[in-house]
Amino acid sequence: MRLASYFMPTLKEDPSEAQIVSHRLMLRAGMIRQVSAGIYSWLPLGFRVLKKIEQITREEMDAAGCLELLMPTLQPADLWRESGRYDDYGKEMLRIRDRHDRDMVYGPTNEELITDIFRHSIKSYRDLPKNLYHIQWKFRDEVRPRFGIMRGREFFMKDGYSFDLDYDGALRSYFNMYLAYSRTFRRMGLSAIPVKAESGAIGGDLSHEFLILAETGESQLYYDQQITELDAESIAADADAETITQFLGRYYAAVDNKHTDWADSGVPQARRREHTGIEVGHIFYFGTKYSEPLGASVAGPDGSEVSVHMGSYGVGVSRLVGAIIEASHDSDGIVWPEAVAPFKVGLINLKPGDAACGDAARELYDGLRRAGIDVLYDDTEERAGAKFATMDLIGLPWQVTVGPKGLRGGTVEVKQRRNGDKEEVSLASALSHLSAA
Ligand SMILES: Nc1ncnc2c1ncn2[C@@H]1O[C@H](COP(=O)(O)OP(=O)(O)O)[C@@H](O)[C@H]1O
Ligand SMILES: [Mg+2]
Repeated sequence: MRLASYFMPTLKEDPSEAQIVSHRLMLRAGMIRQVSAGIYSWLPLGFRVLKKIEQITREEMDAAGCLELLMPTLQPADLWRESGRYDDYGKEMLRIRDRHDRDMVYGPTNEELITDIFRHSIKSYRDLPKNLYHIQWKFRDEVRPRFGIMRGREFFMKDGYSFDLDYDGALRSYFNMYLAYSRTFRRMGLSAIPVKAESGAIGGDLSHEFLILAETGESQLYYDQQITELDAESIAADADAETITQFLGRYYAAVDNKHTDWADSGVPQARRREHTGIEVGHIFYFGTKYSEPLGASVAGPDGSEVSVHMGSYGVGVSRLVGAIIEASHDSDGIVWPEAVAPFKVGLINLKPGDAACGDAARELYDGLRRAGIDVLYDDTEERAGAKFATMDLIGLPWQVTVGPKGLRGGTVEVKQRRNGDKEEVSLASALSHLSAA
């Protein structure tokens, strides 16, 4: 992509409405634009990151055996009346009436809709387990939308739903998602801490929130240092209920008022940690809470009708864009982990008017693109200082600078955004250098 013809409306000054660093940097880098409170347009640079996060999430869900589908944003209110949540959900649910006076809602979540799909099509225990997910916009009319896309009203979420015959099966599905979530966040360059949110007595509700550590997190997190080294893969995904339950309770982690006293936690002094965190994912097991009222049952092995055991699993795809910035930035701007970076390489031509610089930069640009490497080529007439500042601000992992001085010796400069390390490499080897990086 050539910057001169791209659309990346960066800001030189800090926008006054932004209270936290990710919101500030997203506005300054021209990634998003507010439309209304808690509602944003995603501009090309931000959209690329959103799509990368979406794709990593999708790949990990698919690898875990989940099936993608797509449900609409608008849902009939009657489904929510069936589950009893039409009245319970309160003002966070956006209610709409169509031209035929039918009550509709803009979906804040999809338990009802997915259960409706299930009950019409799946009738036998032989078709279980099933895990269905989609990645779709949600609307929750939050009282205080804030922090940019971190707590929006319209936001992009991966939500998945599992269906099993009994508690043991449901717990395996739940644990499968627990493992998939750890892998998903790790691929995005994040270390996410799973925090048990419900009591999780055998057979009862069970829930974990996944939090990443950040100064601006809304939750206060108390955890055993060991949990960050937790090797979830060390127990088989088809382990029995007892092994899984034991594993899930092995290390202490609690948020806010769920934490009372370190002394009761059993965590040795040296391993106690406290930090603010951002919730980026949430998994639930809730048994037959929706399958019973909505009549989602299957014929069991002995022919009797059994209400299916369900779980639901959310990843805050749009929130992750901000959360990753919160976890990875410096005083000059964003520092994207490579897996989610909008482009891998930023190519700076210091002197676009100069024939040698133009030729060298174009050659590199074409070569990188042929090699399948996403590159943003700054071919504008801006002065050098401004170009460097913009590249640092938008945080691409690699910067390559082509300038007259280096070219006289046949070299270009390659800089790693993460640590600022710079290296002079020959023009001829720059391409292989970046392909290998
Ligand atoms: N208002 C919001 N804006 C952006 N992301 C959100 C918002 N609400 C929830 N999310 C994301 O969706 C995930 C699943 O949502 P859920 O747990 O149902 O929401 P909540 O924790 O607000 O009850 C959360 O872990 C979070 O990452
Ligand atoms: Mg939650």
